[in-house]
This record gives sequence, structure tokens and C-alpha cells, in this order.
Amino acid sequence: MPYARLRGMNRIGIDLHRRLGTVDRRIFGQFIEHLGRCIYGGVYEEGSPLSDARGFRRDVLEAARPLRFPVLRWPGGNFVSGYHWLDGVGPRDARPRRTDLAWYAEESNRFGTNEFITYCRELGTEPFICVNMGSGTMDEAQAWVEYCNSTGDTSWANLRRQHGHPEPHRVRYWGLGNEMYGGWQIGNMNAHDYVKKARAFAMVMKRTDPSIQLVGCGQNGWSEWDEIVLGGLAELIDFHSIHLYTGGPDHYATVFQSHQAERAIRVCAALIERVRHAQRIAHPIAIAFDEWNVWWRTRSHADRVGGVEERYTLTDALAVATYLHGFIRHCRVVRIANFAQLVNAIAPIFTNRQGLFLQTIYHPLRLYAEHTLAVALDVHVDGDTLDLAPAQEAATGRVHHVSDLGPFTLLDAVASCDEAGRQLTVAVVNRAHDRDLPATLELAGGVLDGALSAWEVNGPDVAATNSFETPRAVDVRERRITAKGMRLEHVFPAHSITVLKAATGLDKT
Ligand code: AHR
Repeated sequence: MPYARLRGMNRIGIDLHRRLGTVDRRIFGQFIEHLGRCIYGGVYEEGSPLSDARGFRRDVLEAARPLRFPVLRWPGGNFVSGYHWLDGVGPRDARPRRTDLAWYAEESNRFGTNEFITYCRELGTEPFICVNMGSGTMDEAQAWVEYCNSTGDTSWANLRRQHGHPEPHRVRYWGLGNEMYGGWQIGNMNAHDYVKKARAFAMVMKRTDPSIQLVGCGQNGWSEWDEIVLGGLAELIDFHSIHLYTGGPDHYATVFQSHQAERAIRVCAALIERVRHAQRIAHPIAIAFDEWNVWWRTRSHADRVGGVEERYTLTDALAVATYLHGFIRHCRVVRIANFAQLVNAIAPIFTNRQGLFLQTIYHPLRLYAEHTLAVALDVHVDGDTLDLAPAQEAATGRVHHVSDLGPFTLLDAVASCDEAGRQLTVAVVNRAHDRDLPATLELAGGVLDGALSAWEVNGPDVAATNSFETPRAVDVRERRITAKGMRLEHVFPAHSITVLKAATGLDKT
């Protein structure tokens, strides 16, 4: 494909005083759904020598921990729109086996609310439950909140106690339905009908526990659905959700499509600002980007039955890092994000009965969760740029009116520091599939103090994938770099993600 390229000097400018805002650690959230082998055979596998006494796969727990996710969304996804939570509590052997119409499967209900909460506690993460607004009723959603959170002497609270949980689960985040706009969703409806129904659900759920935070069901952030739903629910919600899946066979289209998340955030943030102004709403409304990933290979009906077990390449890892950059750049408005999903179904962790391997996309998720610091900085990147629009327009004869195709710099960078400005993390993705890019990192407002740690995700080429046979084709390499002063010259290798961590001192010049 004849891409238009502009050649320039690659320069990454970082000013320690140009702070964008606080990075909410909840952007490193994850999601598990009753889909394929995500729960059964991933999170949970009774009778396996790899599982603990509760049925949790120990190897999966150990792989999940370094992802340090502060929030975990469950039970779906499409699955939730046909899910009745009462089926999944109480003595396991008495739970009904049901047809799962979302994924053409059978649901044993052996993993339910209390197993989910126990799993969250094990990982030190907060539960985020999405309720069934498809086949479910408002009474059912209300009862779920009461069962989980009530300290009263009611039958729902007592049922939880009877099930072995005297203390309330204190589930703070509740989603008002999943993708209710979509033709694939059980009980889908138009935006006005959704607003009506969601308002009724929200009222009884909030009255049951006023401390809960509600997530309204948004679409992609920029649609008419988002506008109507925000207008109808603003006074009742704390978050508006966005879902986005991107990617395709072309390397550059895949890595650049991740920037669509930023368009979603920009437009949605403007809609939120407008509705808060028009309706005089004092409380903040943030974006919960509660499903996102690269997902395009396993989207047929057959894959749906098979559990959407996408195998990820190095290209996809670069795309995932680019998404995270978008969330960090828009840290003021994106306060929650949930990677879809944790295990097996479009996931960084891939199991079989004997073990697991880490997919390429695991590495950026882990590195960013570990090294991103509290305050995001405004980074300026200029240099080699690629614009996919001319080639696309030549091929399709259509002019592109939005910025999805570029131009984008081949290097994409974000930076964060601690409150005191003494620690700095810089993450740089070189999206070029064929060339190393030398760059100058220029720091203002402080100096590099000496030794830097560098972690680099890379593999032989952009098509590289990990597997049980070659689990480390794409891996992380750690290095030490020395740099003092305000500049650092570094060559970012082709198709790589680099995370640099440095101590900074005061600029005494
Ligand atoms: O994450 C896979 C599916 O993608 C979810 O079930 C649904 O919400 C979305 O369409």
C-alpha cells in the first residue's frame, strides 16, 4: 500500500510542569464474561490439579496479579442480557443449568455472584457488576443490589448471609445494561426506550443503596444513542460507558485505529460537558471505557460458539499500547476502563488444561499498569508521520472526513510523574513495521538524574505471536540506560514498545 510519508526529526518534548491531570488507576481495569472459556476453563476449573480448593486456576491468578487491575467487570457483556443472578447463588449442585442465548452455550451457573466476589477479594480488585436489562426485570436488579450490599434484615440480605456471607459485598459499581442498542443484544431497544427503562432501574437500585455508582449504557461515545442517553440519564449516573473494538489485517490500519478511542473520548466528553451545563448538573460524570480491545479475527457465528479465542500479534500489542496512551492523555475524563477480556476470550492470558501462555498484548497491559505514575504530562511528539488517507481514498474513491486515518506520528509517547515530580515514566511506541527510529527526548522543568530503567516489548516482526510452543516470541527485555541532564538520545527499535523510568532532579541551569 503506497503510504504517504513525511520525514522529520523525531523529538519527544516533556515539560514536568505541564500536567494534564491525575491518572485514575481504574483505567487498568479488566473484564470477565461467561463467554467460551473465559470463566470455565480460564478463571475457574473445578477438579483441575492447577486449581485451588475454590476452583480458581492458580496459574491464572498468578498471571492476573501483575496486571494490577483495580476493578473487574462481570458477568457480561452480551451474556448478562439473558442472565438471572439468582440461578448462580446458593448450593452449587442445586443451581440450574440454563441455555445461554448470547453465546449459543450452556451455563452451569457454578460460578456466580459469590464466586465472583471471592475472586475479586483474592486479587484485591473492586467488583463492577452489570445488570440484566434485556430479559431481566427492575425487581431483579434491585434484589441483586440488596443481596450484595444490604445490612438490613430483609429476605435478600438474609439470603446472602445464609449463603455464607454475613458481611455485605459492598459492590460499588453497577452497570445499567450492556450494549442495549445492538441488534445482537437480548432485549435490545431504541435510545428513548432505554432511557425510560434505565431511569426506572436506576431509581430502585440507588434507593436500595445510595452509595452505589451507576454506569449508563453508552455506545461508541459519538453516536446519537450516546447523546440521547446522556441527556436522559445525566442526573442519575456517575459514568457513561463506551465500547470499542478495532483492528484488521493491515498493520498500520490496526495500530492507528486505536486512536479512534480518542475521538470517542473527545466527542463524549463534549456531550457530557454540554448536558451538565444544560441541566445544571453539579456531580461529575466520567467515561467508563468498559470494553476495549483489538478484535477482528474471531467475529463470525462459528467463533461465537467457539469462544472468540483471538490469537494476538506484535501489531496488536502496539495497538493496545496506543489505546492506553489515549486513556492516559484523556485522564481527566476517562476514569474507568476495562480491557475485554482477561482470559481466553480475546484475552492476554491463554490457557489449556495443562497450563497457560501470555499473549503479546499481555506485556503492554502489565508494563503500563506497573509503571504509569500518578500525574499525566502533556507530551509533544513530532517526527516521522504516516497518513493512510491518500491510499484509502485512491482505493475507495471516497474522501475521509474524520481523522481516523492520520496523519499520525510513527512514534507515540505518553509520560507521567509522581506528585512531587521526582519520578518520571515515559512510554514510547514505535509503530513503524520496518525501521528503528532515533529520537531525542527533551525534558523541561527538571533534569534526568542518572540511571534509567528501560523495558522493551519486541519480537522478530509485527506478525509474531506467542503460543504454547513459542511462549516468548514477543517478550519484554529489561535494560539500564544512563542519562544526565535535559536530553536523552535513544533509538526506538522497529515495532517496539519502550517504557523508560527515571529519577528527575531540579533543573539548576
Ligand atoms: O467482549 C465480547 C463482547 O463484545 C461482549 O460480550 C459485548 O458486550 C461486546 O459486543
